[in-house]
Amino acid sequence: MSRWGFVGRTDELNRLLSAVTGAERRGIFFSGNAGIGKSRLLREGMAALPRDGYAVWTIAASATTAALPFGGLVQVLPTEQPQGLSPAGILRWAVDVLQQQAAGRRIVLAVDDAHLLDPPSAALVHLVARSDNATVVGTSRDGEQLPLPIRALWTDGLVDHVELRPLPPAETTRLLSAILEGPVDATSADRLGRLSEGNPLLLRELVFAADRGELTRTYGIWKWTGRLELAPNLTDLIDVRIGQLTPGVRGVVELVAFGEPLGLHLLNQAADPVDVETAEERGLIAVEHDDRRANVRLAHPLYGEVMRRRCPVSRTRRLQARLAELLELVGKRRRDDLLRVAVWRLDSGTAQDPALLLDAARQAFARYDVPLATRLARAALDAGGGFDAAELLATILMFADRPDEAIGVLDAVATDIEGDRRLSRWLTVRGMVSYWGLSRESTVEEIAARRTTLTDSADQARVLAFEGIMRLHRLDTGIALRLGQTVLDRPAASVAARELARSTIAHLQAAQGQLHRSATAINRVQAEAGRWRADMPYLQLALELARGTRLALAGDLAGIDAIVADEFADLAGAGDFRLGTGYLAILQAYAARLRGQSDAALRTSLGACAVLATSRVYAGLAQAERAQAAALRGDAAQAAEAMAEADRTHAPGMIVLYPWLEQARGAVLAAGGDVSGAVKHLNGLADRLRADGFAGHEVHVLHDLVRLGQPTAPLGPTCSDGGRRTVAQRLTELSERVDGLLPPLLARHARAAAGGSADELLAVADGFDALELTVYAAEATATALDRLRRRRSPAAAAARERLAALLGRCDLVRTPALQAGSPALSDREWQVARLAADGVTSRVIAERLYLSARTVENHLQRIYGKLGVAGRAELRAALRAIPGHDGSDGG
Ligand SMILES: Nc1ncnc2c1ncn2[C@@H]1O[C@H](COP(=O)(O)OP(=O)(O)OP(=O)(O)O)[C@@H](O)[C@H]1O
Ligand SMILES: [Mg+2]
Repeated sequence: MSRWGFVGRTDELNRLLSAVTGAERRGIFFSGNAGIGKSRLLREGMAALPRDGYAVWTIAASATTAALPFGGLVQVLPTEQPQGLSPAGILRWAVDVLQQQAAGRRIVLAVDDAHLLDPPSAALVHLVARSDNATVVGTSRDGEQLPLPIRALWTDGLVDHVELRPLPPAETTRLLSAILEGPVDATSADRLGRLSEGNPLLLRELVFAADRGELTRTYGIWKWTGRLELAPNLTDLIDVRIGQLTPGVRGVVELVAFGEPLGLHLLNQAADPVDVETAEERGLIAVEHDDRRANVRLAHPLYGEVMRRRCPVSRTRRLQARLAELLELVGKRRRDDLLRVAVWRLDSGTAQDPALLLDAARQAFARYDVPLATRLARAALDAGGGFDAAELLATILMFADRPDEAIGVLDAVATDIEGDRRLSRWLTVRGMVSYWGLSRESTVEEIAARRTTLTDSADQARVLAFEGIMRLHRLDTGIALRLGQTVLDRPAASVAARELARSTIAHLQAAQGQLHRSATAINRVQAEAGRWRADMPYLQLALELARGTRLALAGDLAGIDAIVADEFADLAGAGDFRLGTGYLAILQAYAARLRGQSDAALRTSLGACAVLATSRVYAGLAQAERAQAAALRGDAAQAAEAMAEADRTHAPGMIVLYPWLEQARGAVLAAGGDVSGAVKHLNGLADRLRADGFAGHEVHVLHDLVRLGQPTAPLGPTCSDGGRRTVAQRLTELSERVDGLLPPLLARHARAAAGGSADELLAVADGFDALELTVYAAEATATALDRLRRRRSPAAAAARERLAALLGRCDLVRTPALQAGSPALSDREWQVARLAADGVTSRVIAERLYLSARTVENHLQRIYGKLGVAGRAELRAALRAIPGHDGSDGG
C-alpha cells in the first residue's frame, strides 16, 4: 500500500514469523496506538511467509463490516452459506470451509483491527485459533473495546500479546528518509522525530501537511522549517488534510468511508475515475486485488473516522442511499450484498421494499444476529410486509426475551390472516410466545379450540405438534404422547411439525427412563435439522432440552462435554442466543458438580442464572442448579437463597422440570443440617415420580436417599406380600427398567450400603470413578473406609489413600455422606495433627502450643484412634481423606 519500504521492527517481525513457523506455533497479537505501525507489521510479516505449506488469510475488519454478521470474514467465506444451521453449525461450517481450502497446509489467519470484528467473526477466529493446524495472528488498537472471543485468545493462552512500542529515533529518521525518498538533515529529522514521538502515521501526516515553503530540498538533502512546537493531534492533521481535498476526491473518500470494502468498478461508476486515481495517489485509499475482484479500502482507518465524523447526518444518509442504489444497479453478487443494501436502506431512511428487508432479516436471523434481524424485520413490517414480516419479527422478539412486544406484533396482524396455512402459523407462534414467554397456561386450551376450525391436515398437524409440547411442559403427559404420535402418523405433516413431535416424545422417554429410544429419536431430529430450521428455528430449544435431559439422567458427562464443546457454549453469546446458551451452561454446571468440581459448578451455574434472568423458561432450573452447587460445597445459606430464587422464578408452564427443582430442595435441606427433613422430602418426591411414571428421574432421587444413609428405609405403597419395599429394593427393580450403565450401579451402591462388604463398596466406587462421577465415588469410598476403620482393618490405609486421591481431584465438597464417616477432631486435635503430619516432633509441637510433651502424646494417641491409623506415617493421608480439609486450612 505504501510506496516506501519497511523500516526497522526486526525483533517484532521475527517474533511474528516464529509465531507462525516456530515449533510452539502459538499465535501473537500486537496492540498499540493508532498509527504506531501494527497493520504494516502484520502485512510485512504475512508477505514474508514461505509460500509453500501455509494457507494464509488476511482479514481487515473495519467500522463498516462490524455492522454485519460475518462482515469481517466476507473475503474468506464462500458466497453461499448453507441454510438452516444453528450458531454452532455455522461456525463449524466456516471452519470446515477453511480446512478444505487449506488442503492440508497449515492455516494462518491474520486479523487486522480485531477490535472491529463483528461478533460471529470474532467467535470464528477464536475457534480457528483452537484448531490444531492453525495459527492466529493479529492486531488491535489500544483503548478500544475488544470482542470477548478475541480477548479470550490471550487469556486462554492461545496467542501471545505484545504491545507495539513507538519507533526508536534512529528508525524514525530512516523512515523519514524513506517517505521523502532522500536523506534528511539531522536537525529536521530530530524535530520531526520528536513531534511524531515515533508514530509512523503521525510522521507521515506531518510530512504531507507541510506547506511547500516548509519542506525544501537542497543538494539532495531535505530540510523541514515548519514551526510546530507542540506535537499536533493526529486526527487534527488528518482533518486538515481532508478539508483541503477537492469536492470530487473528497466524494471518493466519503463513499469508501461508508462503504468499504467497495468494488473498484462500482466506485468508478459512482465517481469520476480521475478522482479515484487522485485519491489513491495521495495515499487516502488503497486498491487491493483478490482472486475475484478489485476492492477499495481506506489507506488508514483514521481517515474513515475523521470523514464519518465530519459528515453531517443528511449527507451521510444521502451517501448511504447512493451506495444502496449503486449496489442494486450493478447487481448483488456477494453473500453480504443483500444485507449491506438493506442496512444502507435502513440507515438512510429509504427502506421501502418489504421483500428486500424481509429477506435480509431472515439472513441476519439465520446468522443469529438477533439485534440486526430485529431492526430489519421491524422495518419490513413498517414497510408493509404484512403477515410474513409480523411472524418473523415476533419469532425474533421471542428469542430476544421480549414476549410482550411479540404478542403486540402478532395481534396487530390478527385481522390480516387469510387462509388456514397462515392461521396455523399464527396460532403456533402466538401460542409459543403466550405459553412460554408470558406463562399463560390457558394458551393450550385456546389453540386446541381453534385447531378444530382448520381443515387441512398439514395445518392441523402443526398446531397439534405445538399443543403436544405444551401439554408435556405442563405434565399432561398422556395427552402429549398421544398428540405427538398423531402427528408422526400423519403423512401430510411438515418436517418441522413431525420433528417437533418427535422431540416432545424424546423428552418424555428420557424422563421415563427409556434412554435408548430417546437417543435414537433425538439423533433423528438432529439429522433433519437442515429441513426444519428455516421453518421453525425455535425447535432447536425443544431438541436441546430433550437431549440435555437424556444426557443428565444417563449420567453421561462425556456426552455433555461433547455438546458443550460442539455448541461452543462460551462463544455462542456471539449470536445473543440466550436460551440456548443458558441451557447449555446449566448442563455444564451439572457435569462439573458430579465431578466434584464445585468451583466450576458454582461459577457456571451463576453464569446461567445471569444469562437466563430475564426469561421465564429456564430461570428456575438455573437457580436450582446453583442451589445444588452451593449445597455440594456445604454453603447452606447460598443454597437456601438460590432455592428461594428458583421458587420465585420458576414458571408454572415449565412444571415438567419439577424433578430437578425438588431434587435440589432435598440437597438444600440436607446441607442446612435438616437431614430428616431432606429424607422426608425425597421420599415424597420418589412417590410423586413413581406416580408420574418418571423412572429416569426416580432412580436419581432414590440414590440421593442412599447417599443420605437410607438404603434400607421403606418406601412407596404396601405390596401384595403385605410389606413395603426398601429404597435398595426399589432401585434394583428400576435398574432393570431404566436404560444404561448407571441404574445397575446405583442399585449396587444401595445394596452395598445396606449391608454389603467394604470391598463391594470400593468396587462400586471404582464403577462411579470410571464414569467420572467423582463425588459418588468419594462417598462410597468414605462409607467403606468408615467400616474398615471401625473394624480396625489393615485395609483402611489403602482405602484412605483412595479417598484422598478422589478428594484431591475435587474442589471443596462437603456432603452429608462424606461428613458422616469422617472422624470429628477437636480444634486442638486438628492443630496437633496437622503439625505432626508436617513432620514436626512432639517436643516442638509442645513448645509451640504451650503444652506438655505428655499432653501432646495423649492427643496424638486419641487422634490415631479416631482416624484409625497406626502412627505418624499414615497421618498425612488420613487428614487429606477428610473432606473439606486438605490438612492445610483452618480445620
Ligand atoms: N516500520 C514501518 N516502516 C515503514 N512504514 C511504516 C512502518 N510502520 C508504519 N508505517 C506506515 O505508517 C502508516 C501507519 O501505520 P499502520 O497503518 O500500520 O498503523 P496502525 O498501527 O495499524 O494504526 P491503526 O491502529 O490506526 O490501524 C502506514 O502508512 C504504514 O505504512
Ligand atoms: Mg491498522
